Amino acid sequence: MAIVKFSNEMKWGAATASYQIEGAVKEGGRGLSIWDTFSKTPGKVKNGDNGDIACDSYHRFEEDIEIMKDLGINSYRFSVAWSRIFPEGTGKVNKEGLDFYHKFVDKLLENGIEPMCTLYHWDLPQSLQDKGGWDNRETIEAFVNYAETMFKEFTGKIKFWITLNEPWCVSYLSNYLGLHAPGYTDLQLATSIAHNLLVAHGKAVIKFRELKIDGQIGYAPNVEWNEPYSNKQEDIDACTRAGAWFIEWFFDPVFKGSYPQFMVEWFGKKGVQLRIEDGDMEIIHQPIDFLGINYYTGSVGRFKENAGLFDHERVDAGYKKTDIGWNVYPEGFYKVLCYIHETYGQTPIYITENGACYNDEPIDRRVKDEGRIEYLQQHLVSLNRAIESGVNIKGYLTWSLLDNFEWAEGYSKRFGIVHVNYRTLERTKKDSFYWYKQTISNGWFQVNE
Ligand code: BGC
Repeated sequence: MAIVKFSNEMKWGAATASYQIEGAVKEGGRGLSIWDTFSKTPGKVKNGDNGDIACDSYHRFEEDIEIMKDLGINSYRFSVAWSRIFPEGTGKVNKEGLDFYHKFVDKLLENGIEPMCTLYHWDLPQSLQDKGGWDNRETIEAFVNYAETMFKEFTGKIKFWITLNEPWCVSYLSNYLGLHAPGYTDLQLATSIAHNLLVAHGKAVIKFRELKIDGQIGYAPNVEWNEPYSNKQEDIDACTRAGAWFIEWFFDPVFKGSYPQFMVEWFGKKGVQLRIEDGDMEIIHQPIDFLGINYYTGSVGRFKENAGLFDHERVDAGYKKTDIGWNVYPEGFYKVLCYIHETYGQTPIYITENGACYNDEPIDRRVKDEGRIEYLQQHLVSLNRAIESGVNIKGYLTWSLLDNFEWAEGYSKRFGIVHVNYRTLERTKKDSFYWYKQTISNGWFQVNE
């Protein structure tokens, strides 16, 4: 047996997002978001599911906080539904929305749980989408106004702020691959949106500094690890492009103030222009206090002419897969963290999401989700290796506290360490909950050698 031990300073947490758990979409003065529209468009979400009720956390947050307390986490990452604060995205602020998050944040604080607030986890107010969404630079101003309102309102209560969750998903998954709201399939549009998102992030950071808010601010991009199939240069190059789509494309502008030239050229060959206005790169290039990293999976891949956007194809190397079909690839977690550290330096890192989809159901009120325990254990070993290798990791927040509305997969895919019965809304702590609880309380766990 070997012991994997973490420092006492390590923050432990769990994460969720507003549209995925809150429900109560017509309550508290909330306006429509693009996910209300998208989920009600036939064929977009599996089984026609939507977030109308979700986990009903809007009404059950006290019960959820009890669960967090029992888990022993000292950090909880949640997101605010922009359209609860500004039902039309901008204009008049909705006091009921602010009141809801005050009650919620106060309860977290009373229970000794640090709130980590994501401002944008994909639920853009529909009114802004009607005017072009993130393609329209007015949305940037609306976002900064919303961010400013939140900073001022919650100053002293919320000390950790994340501007954007997974800008790759907001841009490419939603506007090029078309799988998420608003569902377009236009590479130019997606690339313009990716840029506008980064400008919005930068402007929010500038505002945060101007207001001298006590706390820290960062963003949470999603990363994967792309391992070349062979050491042939063409395989290495294909994987470099595939990985850079997630990493360099969204990190270089923030950390270096420029886009990676090889990717600019590649996109150029696809007929895509970067729509950068004067001053944009300086705005994006703001020092951040921490970097949130979301990691789930990685893969082995190689060069194949005209495959996908990057002449890159994945090869099934026989890794085990979770119930959503993603490779279990803990080595990729270690490698990507080391890579980010080597490329972008010492900025403190919080793992803002890591977890697995396993659809185990309760039998006699017990959920034996061994697959998830194994996944968490393997990924925490990788995290520990990264820490031992000098990567500046400050905390780990698993995705997710609860089973919830898994976007285009609806309720068919479960990522929670707590099971939710979507009929009765009953919560059942899974075996992984108890494993994680023990790990947090010990600060270590054992693995077989
Ligand atoms: C997102 C979550 C999502 C999870 C699993 C991340 O991309 O931030 O909202 O549920 O992955 O797909």
